[in-house]
Amino acid sequence: MEFKHIPVMVEEVMTCLRCEPGRTYVDGTLGGGGHAEEILKRTGPDGIMIGMEWDQEAIDEAGKRLKPYGSRARIFRENFIHLSEVLKTAEIESVDGILLDLGLSLIQLERGERGFSFRGEGPLDMRMDMRRDCTAANLVNSLPLAELERILFEYGEERWARRIAKAIVSGREKEPIQTTGALGKIVYKAIPKKFHSRRIDPATRTFQAFRIRVNEELENLRGILESGWKALRREGRMCVISFHSLEDRMVKEAFRRWEREGMLGILTKKPLTPSEKEQKNNPRARSAKLRCAERR
Ligand SMILES: C[S@@+](CC[C@H](N)C(=O)[O-])C[C@H]1O[C@@H](n2cnc3c(N)ncnc32)[C@H](O)[C@@H]1O
Repeated sequence: MEFKHIPVMVEEVMTCLRCEPGRTYVDGTLGGGGHAEEILKRTGPDGIMIGMEWDQEAIDEAGKRLKPYGSRARIFRENFIHLSEVLKTAEIESVDGILLDLGLSLIQLERGERGFSFRGEGPLDMRMDMRRDCTAANLVNSLPLAELERILFEYGEERWARRIAKAIVSGREKEPIQTTGALGKIVYKAIPKKFHSRRIDPATRTFQAFRIRVNEELENLRGILESGWKALRREGRMCVISFHSLEDRMVKEAFRRWEREGMLGILTKKPLTPSEKEQKNNPRARSAKLRCAERR
C-alpha cells in the first residue's frame, strides 16, 4: 500500500526560507521529499537542494520524486548532525537556508513493520535509521525500572510513568515484550481507565518516549541547534518545524541564546501554526509549530 506524506505549512516554510532562483538550501529531514520538491521548483533553474535523511526507505521515495530535478537535488543518507561534513563533500561553503521538519513521516508511521505505531501489530523496533543497533524492544526488555520511568516521564511527559514502568518490568518477567501490540496492551492496563482520554490513545506518550530515546532525537536536535548556524551565510535562515513541546522548547531556547550572543535574529516571536484549513485537511499538521531565525 502507498502512503503519501503531506508536507506541512509549505507556504509558510517557503516564505520563511525566501526561496528564490539560484539559491542553495539544506533540507535536513528530507523524508518523502515534499518540502524539498517545493524548494527545487522555486529555486530553478539553477538553485541547489542538499537533502539529508537517515532512513533508506524515505531516501528511495524522495529519490524517485526528485529525479526530474537532476543534479540540482543532492541526496545524502546521513544524520543531520553531520551537516558540515556533508557540505564539505558537496563542496559548498555556506547555504541560504536550512529546514528541519522533525519527527516521523507518514510512510514510517503507517508501515507496521517499522514498529512506530500502537495501532495494529508490528515488531517493537522504532529505528528511523535501520543501521543503528538499539531497538525499542532492546530498551523495553533490558533497562532498569528507574530508567524506564525517567524516559517515560521526560520524553513522554507521561504522568503515569511509574505505573507504566512497573507494568513493563512485571510484563517482561513473564515473557519478553516484542511487539507494538504487547507494549500497547501493557500501557492500556497500567493507566487507570477513568484517566483514558477519548481523544488520544493511552499508549501515545509511551510510544513517543521510546521513539525519542531509540533515535536520540533530542541529542540530534541539540547538536544541529548548536552548530547549524555556522553553515548559514549572512541573512541565511533556519526554519524548524516541531511536533511536541520538548522539541519546540529546545528550538525556542537555542534561538534566544543565539540572538543574545548576536549570531541570529529571531523572525518568529511566536511560533507559526497551520491555518484552520490545513489542520482540517491534514490532521498530522495540528501540532506543528514553525520557528525561524536569520543569521546576522
Ligand atoms: C516529518 S518527516 C519529513 C517530511 C518531509 N519534509 C516531506 O515533506 O516529505 C521527518 C523525516 O526526518 C527524518 N529524520 C529525523 N531525524 C533525522 C536525523 N537526525 N537525520 C536525518 N534524518 C532525520 C526521518 O527519518 C523522517 O523521514
